[in-house]
Amino acid sequence: MQRFQITQGDLTTMQVDAIVNAANTTLLGGGGVDGAIHRAAGPELLAECRGLNGCETGQAKMTAGYHLPAHFVIHTPGPIWQGGAHDEDRLLAGCYRSSLALAVHAGCRTVAFPSISTGVYRFPIDCAAKIAVATIRQCLAEYRTLERVTMVCFDSHTRSAYERALEESEGRHG
Ligand code: APR
Repeated sequence: MQRFQITQGDLTTMQVDAIVNAANTTLLGGGGVDGAIHRAAGPELLAECRGLNGCETGQAKMTAGYHLPAHFVIHTPGPIWQGGAHDEDRLLAGCYRSSLALAVHAGCRTVAFPSISTGVYRFPIDCAAKIAVATIRQCLAEYRTLERVTMVCFDSHTRSAYERALEESEGRHG
């Protein structure tokens, strides 16, 4: 089975060790997938987040999953798109890298991501997908204990962008 999979669906239903939340730097919830995760996890998630004192863009912090099927939630604030000259690419790669490093050090074997920063934060989807796929593939090569990383796309447009990015990445590097 492929260790990197792309699916379309609702991240909050994923039965994996950890799901990743496209959070903001306050870690106090919001809309989009952040809102969906907090609704599904229940109020204890926000209570735990309150004690984390926020999180820097491109970094990640971990909580329990509470009422979610996932055991853990890894919260990572993605960069807000400002035209591409404000270190957005490096910060976005950092979200994936920091989240997977945290997951591996917590003993997680299966992790599911949303498409970080491509909603409210307006990061262009094709560029974001290339960065996400390249970083996830590098981390899968680096962390042999990771069994499977899944990109859970909320709509078909997003899913096509990730499938294109994966085809290009495999074509280049095999
Ligand atoms: N499952 C999977 N993906 C989802 C779900 C869901 N239940 N809900 C939304 N998405 C998708 C969006 O369609 C988009 O492709 O997650 C991707 C990221 O979009 P946002 O949730 O808007 O996240 P982001 O662009 O990183 O903006 C983060 O939005 O919700 C606030 O608090 C959050 O301030 C932060 C900002």
